[in-house]
Amino acid sequence: MKNKNISNIMTMSIGLFLITACTQKPAAIAGTKTFTAEYLAQGKTIFENSCGKCHDLPNPMDHTSIQWVGIMNSMAPKAKLDDAQHQIVYDYVVSVKN
Ligand code: HEC
Repeated sequence: MKNKNISNIMTMSIGLFLITACTQKPAAIAGTKTFTAEYLAQGKTIFENSCGKCHDLPNPMDHTSIQWVGIMNSMAPKAKLDDAQHQIVYDYVVSVKN
């Protein structure tokens, strides 16, 4: 019984760690991830529909993948993106650069 509780806590900690790693450090893992064409196409669509409303569509080349983390943190709320859309647009933008 005692051991079971410990392993539950460990599972939860690992889960939390993964969530934190995914949401807070997209730049660090972007280079090692590969995405499906469908996923990136979806990111492109959201980007083109949401990011050219207030200004010209930004050029992914104009900023580093690290800078894009900060840009997306300030622009995703402006574009009313949810967390999943935020991530997919970020992944698309960085994929264009590679
Ligand atoms: C509601 C209006 C609005 C929407 C939607 C919007 N932006 Fe912006 N964006 C701004 C404004 C205003 C600025 C300039 C002031 C600032 O940097 O906050 C800006 C600036 C920028 C810059 C220049 C930042 C810099 O440091 O030079 C980039 C890049 C950018 N936006 C990307 C995006 C992306 C990507 C999206 C879609 C997720 C997006 N924006 C959606 C209003 C918007």
